[in-house]
Amino acid sequence: MSRYYLTTPIFYVNDAPHIGHAYSVLNGDAVTRWHRLLGDEVFYLTGTDEHGLKVQRAAEANGLSPQVQADRTSQRFRAAWAELGVANDEFIRTTEPRHHRAVQKLMQRAYDNGYIYSATYDGWYSVADEAYISQEDVTEEDLKAGRVERMTEENYFFALSAFEEQLLDWYEANPHNITPEGYRNEALGIIAGGLRDISITRTSIDWGIPVPWADGHVFYVWYDALTNYATAAGYGDDEGRFAAWWPSARHLIGKDIIRFHCVYWPAMLLAAGVNDLPKFHVHGWLLVGGKKMGKSAFNQISPSDLVSDFGVDGFRYALLRDTPFGPDSEVSHESLQQRYNTDLANNFGNLLQRACALVHRKCGGVGPAPDTDHPLADVVAAVYADTAEGWERFQPSVALEATWRLIRDTNEYLQATEPWKTDPGSVVDTILGNVLESLRIVCILASPAMPFACEVAWGRLGLSGSPLDQRLPEAAEWGQYPGGLAVVDGEPLFPRLLD
Ligand code: ME8
Ligand code: MG
Repeated sequence: MSRYYLTTPIFYVNDAPHIGHAYSVLNGDAVTRWHRLLGDEVFYLTGTDEHGLKVQRAAEANGLSPQVQADRTSQRFRAAWAELGVANDEFIRTTEPRHHRAVQKLMQRAYDNGYIYSATYDGWYSVADEAYISQEDVTEEDLKAGRVERMTEENYFFALSAFEEQLLDWYEANPHNITPEGYRNEALGIIAGGLRDISITRTSIDWGIPVPWADGHVFYVWYDALTNYATAAGYGDDEGRFAAWWPSARHLIGKDIIRFHCVYWPAMLLAAGVNDLPKFHVHGWLLVGGKKMGKSAFNQISPSDLVSDFGVDGFRYALLRDTPFGPDSEVSHESLQQRYNTDLANNFGNLLQRACALVHRKCGGVGPAPDTDHPLADVVAAVYADTAEGWERFQPSVALEATWRLIRDTNEYLQATEPWKTDPGSVVDTILGNVLESLRIVCILASPAMPFACEVAWGRLGLSGSPLDQRLPEAAEWGQYPGGLAVVDGEPLFPRLLD
């Protein structure tokens, strides 16, 4: 059995969840659900990033203490993911004591290993990005808009520059550690451009994790935040657990945080003596009217709104299918609705509806068995291979497109054989048995994107248990619909949406 440890970014608690955040969490949820079907031992982690100036200032603006701000907003993220049916195994908060211990331990090791020294930081800081900005990257506009602030502080620095060679060698030796490929080049470009040491502690704020070797210092929020991935795997707390999970760690991130994840974090791990480095899966941004969705553009869409329009699974499917993992994607209500109507109402939903109705009209409501050997079996084999490859490559849209080929071909088969024109008997039985068998397999393959609808559809076919409990690849082999089951002729699963 293989382990699969996947993390999402932990989100700042300065503001409410929007569908950009949901995009990360749903991609991760679908991919980990696929790995659960494969029988892998999965650990799926998400959570909230609660320290730093950004959160402290949001709290001040709201007249709250940072802790209360964090408690409330963290809860909103938790509730949003529950509403979307996300099956995360843990939800980590950086204000938890276990996390404080892990950060202090990891950083103390880096300190003991000689990679941390004291110096003066005199330069720029962006609170929005919680990032130190070098002089040459500061624009006139940044200054005018107050996007950067001058900061002069005696603090501790991390010797990032010491890791240039080692990082380049590691990426060289492991060309697939960042996917898609283009983002690997971006990370390599940052490293090859030369790494400078960076400040990792602050004295002018106190909303952070105390530095164990220096009174009055707290850790820079990104150092605290990145360590959450190690904390949740048991770092410094349960070495056995950490040793078991850490080698399989993968971080799903948006392209905005490549530098922190693909450059700083591996260096921090190496500095602390952790030599197993994680893999990265990087996605682009959801855009609204050409702009990145987010707080600064005032163009956020709340996941709940789309759930009320499309249903949980309708939203999950339309979003995952419509936005290839990697590039930026424009999202709109119209495009999601079109996807819903085409793929769910007209294809999957309609096929299920017709099949179940026909079983009632022609077979007394009892689902017949499929042919043991049928051309659709070849379609299933090819579809399975492409679906599996899509999920394996962290490309949900590709995987779902492949699965929908089976739906389309089955619809065509039904259209071509016209069982509604034939009298009840063995010919009709076999046709409908084949269609039910196709649908059984679709329910399993589509379940990472639509766990709830696929469970309902599974029940309509008269099958017991759940598609989520099936094991791949065996369960996707043709011919397992047993026949003799009571098929349910119910309401449409995905009612067509009109404008
Ligand atoms: O950066 N499109 O948190 P954050 C796609 N706390 N994804 C989007 C998005 C959009 N328009 N907007 C946000 C932080 N995201 C840090 C991370 S990790 C140790 C610390 C997603 O609340 C995307 O995954 O600003 C992005 O990387 C993340 O939310 C940033 O969330
Ligand atoms: Mg952000």
